[in-house]
Amino acid sequence: MDQQQTLGRIRELTIALNEHNHRYYILDDPIISDAAYDALLRELQDLETQFPELKQTDSPTQRVGSLPLSGFEQLSHSIPMLSLSNAMDEEELLSFDTRVRKDLEVDQLDYVVEPKLDGLGVELIYVDGIFTAGSTRGDGFTGENITQNLRTLKALPLRLRDKLRPVPPYLEVRGEVFMGHKDFELLNQRQMDEEKQAFANPRNAAAGSLRQLDSRITASRNLLINLYAPGQIDNFSVDTHMEFIQALKDWGFPVNELYKLCPNIDHVIQFHNRLESDRENLEYDIDGTVTKVNRLDYQDRLGIRSRSPRWAIAGKFKARQEITKILSISPSVGRTGAITPVANLEPVHLGGVMVARATLHNQDEIDRKDIREGDTVVVQRAGDVIPEVVKSILDKRPKESQPYIIPDRCPACHGHVIRLEGEAKHYCQNISCTAQIKGRIEHFVSKRCMDIDGFGTKLVAQLVDSGLITSIADIYVLTLEQLANLDRMADKSAQNIMEAIASSKSADLWRLIHGLGIRNVGEHISKVIASKYGSLAALGEATAEDLEATHEVGPIVARGVVEFFKDSDNQGILNKLAKHGLNPTIDVSARNDGKLSGLLFVFTGKLEHFNRDSARVLVESLGGSTANSISKKTDYLVAGPGAGSKMEKATKLGVNILTEDEFQTMVGAE
Ligand code: IVH
Repeated sequence: MDQQQTLGRIRELTIALNEHNHRYYILDDPIISDAAYDALLRELQDLETQFPELKQTDSPTQRVGSLPLSGFEQLSHSIPMLSLSNAMDEEELLSFDTRVRKDLEVDQLDYVVEPKLDGLGVELIYVDGIFTAGSTRGDGFTGENITQNLRTLKALPLRLRDKLRPVPPYLEVRGEVFMGHKDFELLNQRQMDEEKQAFANPRNAAAGSLRQLDSRITASRNLLINLYAPGQIDNFSVDTHMEFIQALKDWGFPVNELYKLCPNIDHVIQFHNRLESDRENLEYDIDGTVTKVNRLDYQDRLGIRSRSPRWAIAGKFKARQEITKILSISPSVGRTGAITPVANLEPVHLGGVMVARATLHNQDEIDRKDIREGDTVVVQRAGDVIPEVVKSILDKRPKESQPYIIPDRCPACHGHVIRLEGEAKHYCQNISCTAQIKGRIEHFVSKRCMDIDGFGTKLVAQLVDSGLITSIADIYVLTLEQLANLDRMADKSAQNIMEAIASSKSADLWRLIHGLGIRNVGEHISKVIASKYGSLAALGEATAEDLEATHEVGPIVARGVVEFFKDSDNQGILNKLAKHGLNPTIDVSARNDGKLSGLLFVFTGKLEHFNRDSARVLVESLGGSTANSISKKTDYLVAGPGAGSKMEKATKLGVNILTEDEFQTMVGAE
């Protein structure tokens, strides 16, 4: 064969193998035997080894994996990958529907219900129909580049099909990578044979397999993938989610077939319940349903709130229950000093995971349910939440059993434990309690705060127990020598930790705010107040009133912030942090001098020049904020044709109402 003929044969084999792959994995309708497929694949592999320069970009030989990477690169998503808000029961699905119909001002609308696959969210990118890159969801904005690993997934098309529908020049799609029950069992069997740690559930196994630096390991794990959402797609438009699903199928993507178009919420609930009872018969885990508004123009009008779309909701399945025994109850102390009684259980399998501990919440809960050490109990796990004890089975209670009472001394520092009027929890009163100090430091260094790599629970315990650190600020006083002298600490690790500490000094302001552990200030609120105030100094001077005027900040958060900065111990810590160079700032002057600074907008009706997201982005870029419903705090309602109840409410509350033209004049966007 000359070069030209070889190229011809390579192309032919590539096309044929991809076609057989599609028939086997997507259509479930193979037309050749496994042995015949393997023979063709081997022929292609041989040709590619001889003529590597002729290898096609969509060659199926890439599925076997390639040489290990030294680490994953970051890949940012052109459109953030959102999460979903949850409906825990039927009632919450009903109120989702009521809200959506009210916001859209319609009586009827179609929903699409899909299973909520319990795996890992990923994004795939196709350029001119060829799979070119893929990433994990990560924090929603940036994920890890796992292209090599995704290529090994057998159902993932390496080239899209254009017979039924033209393929857009640039296409991003999102979906879930997961592992079937059988492969999970086999993998765990193999892990045990090799004396390796077993995976707790199929989701962890899928995550562990997908995040391998050696893609040959991923290739051996038989991961599944289903696609369900668009990212950015150029030169493509459809009107509904149902049509989008059809497009996915036309292009050759694997789509989960258990979806259903429902004309109203009653049908949604019916289908949700059906999937819930069918879930035991599926070969993979689903942890609920996802209900999406079918019309894409409606989705657009509903927009997003915080990190999740307002046009979709995850319907959770009811908790799974099991029976086991409470071996003992131990009080555990958190970073605020709150004591949580924890039941140590005879380990039991619960919806895919081994459960050995369950929270008992507080003394009132223990009393109300009358739960005692030695009891045989019903435990449950709802979705991902910490397992809990539902009730004791009284017939099986040992005769000598006694009610459990939270001890009046802290299990960590022996300080006084008291319960204040009106509080559900007992608190350890000793502010130097080592358990609290450890908790605060663990929170500060954690991934969602300062993200100091290598600073784990064990290290925190070692440092606090040896008296080397007593507050978060002390982290920055540590020396390399002190670290290296700790038990079981290698020089190299000590050095890495010192570097991680040093680089945390340039962490974003919101991370530092979150890390301080201010009561009721979580990650999202930390971001909100960081971008409003721009520095710790400015935040420290904010009054409760000023804080409350911030969109999404209420009186409880405002009080938490003010009290935190008033406390002299905290001031000492903040000064020390600043002295060590932790003083991140954001330039907020541009924003606060913005035309719309401090103004809150709501949009309703059909707008000509904006959708909800672009309007929000514009308002925020000028220092203002937006909300989805009218309240006393609203400054302006921008109303397009078809505005209904919001208009009425705005009129009642005396909120200024603008036409879209007036709004454009105001922002200078004509
Ligand atoms: S839609 C913007 N559909 O659930 C809508 N997500 O909690 C978000 N998930 O990160 C994606 N099955 O990883 C959608 N049928 C489905 C899903 C699904 C599972 C995951 C996804 C997402 C998470 C949100």
